[in-house]
Amino acid sequence: MESNNMIEVKNLTKKFGDFIAVDDISFEVKQSEVFGLLGPNGAGKSTTIRMLTTLIRPNDGTAKIGGYDVIKQDSKVRELIGLVSEKMIMYDRLTAKENLKFFGKLYNMPDSVLNPKIDELLEMLNLSKWKNSKVGTFSTGMRQRMNVIRALLNTPQVLFLDEPTLGLDPQSTVEIREFIKKLNREHKTTIILTTHMMNEADLLCDRIGIIDKGKIVALDTSANLKKTISGNGTTILKLEIPNLTSSLLNTIQSVKCVNSVSQENNSHIKIHATGDDAFDLIIDAVRAKKGKINSIEKLEPTLEDVFLKITGREVRDKADNKIVMKHGPGPKRFSQKQRVR
Ligand SMILES: Nc1ncnc2c1ncn2[C@@H]1O[C@H](COP(=O)(O)OP(=O)(O)OP(=O)(O)O)[C@@H](O)[C@H]1O
Ligand SMILES: [Mg+2]
Repeated sequence: MESNNMIEVKNLTKKFGDFIAVDDISFEVKQSEVFGLLGPNGAGKSTTIRMLTTLIRPNDGTAKIGGYDVIKQDSKVRELIGLVSEKMIMYDRLTAKENLKFFGKLYNMPDSVLNPKIDELLEMLNLSKWKNSKVGTFSTGMRQRMNVIRALLNTPQVLFLDEPTLGLDPQSTVEIREFIKKLNREHKTTIILTTHMMNEADLLCDRIGIIDKGKIVALDTSANLKKTISGNGTTILKLEIPNLTSSLLNTIQSVKCVNSVSQENNSHIKIHATGDDAFDLIIDAVRAKKGKINSIEKLEPTLEDVFLKITGREVRDKADNKIVMKHGPGPKRFSQKQRVR
């Protein structure tokens, strides 16, 4: 393996028929790094993970894990990796321990190695108490912890986590995130995770690749990604306007310093604007149209803002959220379900 890259992806592409799910992506993940692929539904996150974990073959490009090619040396790759994905199977009628023994056997692990490993992992993920309970009785959070244990049975150097906290309750979410950090800190495991949650990417990842429509549109540390916004003079303002109307929204959109307006609810909007006088220009425009301003707040950029700036959309579509980009790379967008009430 050259350099200290644990993962090297070059021009990786996956097509399903004519549809390009992953479009010529390239990135590297260093040893012991936590790398995140952040993107909305259908961005190509799972497809990327499936190629890197040898489950599906790319149409083009290469990927190496620990120096091994995912196509030509797939069995070597599988020895190095563990995967937690959306579609994992556990046997409900077997106990936690029976399930793990079954999966451990698939790795040809002898009992002398497997049994202590299972006990250690059950302990680490707070499931020891339930080791003899049937998995069918487990909550979603407990099942996900079982999936993590299963992925760690062979002590992988690289752990792939596809949406590790999707659908989990808040407490399980915190537990899984804490565990990911601990595993990386104490065992130096290289981790690549996918998520559509900005805060999750922010919290866990050393570097983040933002993926949209099969392409990586930005890649850096969270801090540097956010600097691309604050550094170019963009101000993010949140306004509370109790008498917000669509005509008032149009007025705000037409203020020359305003780049985009997203409506969060009946009275709150978020504005991306450029220039030193943005604040005054916006307030003047609202007042001129008899808009009341209850509050105005300057926000620090979030990864959501980074995504919005690059794509013109929000990572998670909210039903009552209206976003209008005036210029920049994002298209002008009026969704049917989005309206001012
Ligand atoms: N086996 C397949 N056959 C056809 N299309 C597929 C297949 N798998 C994925 N796709 C399509 O490829 C695109 C990317 O899918 P993928 O599952 O990688 O997205 P994702 O980023 O993981 O999104 P999600 O948040 O929904 O998990 C989607 O449009 C999806 O419908
Ligand atoms: Mg997915």
